[in-house]
Amino acid sequence: MARFSLTTPLYYVNARPHIGSAYTTMAADALARFARLRGNEVLLVTGTDEHGQKIQRTAQERGVPPQQHCDQMAGEFETLWQMLNIRWQSFIRTTDFKHEPIVQEFFQRLWDKGDIYLHQQQGWYCVACEEFKDERELLPEKHCPLHPNLPVEWRDEPNYFFRLSRYQAQLEDLYQTQPDFIQPSARRNEVLKFVAQGLADFSISRLHLDWGFPVPVDPNQVIYVWFDALLGYLTALVEPGVKPSLEAAVQTWWPVDLHLIGKDILRFHAVYWPALLMAAELPLPKRIFAHGFLTKDGQKMSKSLGNIIDPFALVAEYGSDALRYYFLKEIELGKDGDFNEERFIQTVNADLANDLGNLLNRTLKLVHKYCGGKVPSANVSQDDPLALLGQNLATQIAQAYEQLALHRACGLPLALAQRANKWMDEQAPWQLAKTGAQGHLEGVLYRLLEAVRLAAYLLSPVIPQTSTRIYQQLGYGIDFDGEPQLAYDQQSQWGALPPGQLVAQPEPVFARIGVPKVIKL
Ligand code: MSP
Repeated sequence: MARFSLTTPLYYVNARPHIGSAYTTMAADALARFARLRGNEVLLVTGTDEHGQKIQRTAQERGVPPQQHCDQMAGEFETLWQMLNIRWQSFIRTTDFKHEPIVQEFFQRLWDKGDIYLHQQQGWYCVACEEFKDERELLPEKHCPLHPNLPVEWRDEPNYFFRLSRYQAQLEDLYQTQPDFIQPSARRNEVLKFVAQGLADFSISRLHLDWGFPVPVDPNQVIYVWFDALLGYLTALVEPGVKPSLEAAVQTWWPVDLHLIGKDILRFHAVYWPALLMAAELPLPKRIFAHGFLTKDGQKMSKSLGNIIDPFALVAEYGSDALRYYFLKEIELGKDGDFNEERFIQTVNADLANDLGNLLNRTLKLVHKYCGGKVPSANVSQDDPLALLGQNLATQIAQAYEQLALHRACGLPLALAQRANKWMDEQAPWQLAKTGAQGHLEGVLYRLLEAVRLAAYLLSPVIPQTSTRIYQQLGYGIDFDGEPQLAYDQQSQWGALPPGQLVAQPEPVFARIGVPKVIKL
């Protein structure tokens, strides 16, 4: 069986999950669901990044022990993922007992190779980024450009360094020989430019911090949170009940097909991570795709502006399909995108309630009225406008998913539904009924049902609940949240709907959303 594996980032637990973390995870879930629909065995890894200074300070500020804080926050992530209808196979927490042996073994391997050495670290550290910043990138008064209300902190301490510089040529070779390794291409260029400036070794340990794993060769230091976090991708692959080791981790699913991340953490994934894996002599992930950033009403989201979107409130109010659809259809993965509540409501009402829902509703009514509630027979030619669109759809959708063009994967089936609505008005089946053209009428109704079926099928990775309702009204007893029960090669093709199948009475598949409720923190 073909396989597909992908990861979301492991999210910091310094705060409850926000819309940015939900965005990456919804996109990853749609990719995973499409692969599963096609019959692949799929592994979706997600989880939480729980060590480091930022988390330790947050716990301190809340007056709770760090582990307790992490347990609470990790629970919030799992809850939100469930509310968003995410189907993950492995949820890794970096405080999981399996993780420490993996991190220690990895560190030891690099140490034994001579790729780690002790050196004085001096520099400006941004705790929010958990990263040293180059003095030239800082804003006035030594503030981090990504966290403009936070000053960076001066550090001057002995740290263990990873010899990144040793891997410069090997990395450049990787980017050349595998041009698709980093996507989209604008991000790839950014990385090429960064690497071309020359890579400096970087510190992978911290002194005066206890929330992390001790450095195996020096218990006074703890391992740097990013070194620890990236290795979570490996620990996530250790099967339950198996003794954690690097060998066990890479046994079945490593290397993964895709790391889906946001553009702010590209350098860690596209430069540091492959270099660390090269040093450990482990295979590299096949692809890294960095998406853009979300804004709210055109503005950067921040606590101080008071415009942070709370994904819990949003999903509780509007449901998971609506959210998944809006974010994946309206924002091109890879580009920055905006959330505006009115536009969100307009989009899902127009696309899901009207174009898709009403198409089904109107057609089913006619099928009950003129065809005895059964899918009519289909002795029609294949050259009508719906067949022309429908015949090419599966190939185009597969391409869109391959390119991670999720906006297209949503837009194409919708265009079929839109064309079907228009075609229904042009064909006016109610007129055909009056003139007694039963054969023609049945042909028209068949194609309309087929258009809504195919659109629902190919949209099911994004809106599984709505697609399930459509399929059930078309007379199928299936649930797109369960294991795939129908063969993709058949269902993804135009004309799969079996004549004679009994259809249900029409019910709204997506309830129109009324007045916007302003969603605040
Ligand atoms: N813990 C690290 C990742 C370690 S992976 C081994 C981390 N965590 S994070 O919680 O800060 O960010 C996780 C993801 O959320 C990143 O991919 C980031 O790009 C994404 N987003 C955070 N804010 C965002 C928006 N406003 N918009 C879109 N995505 C954003 O970094």
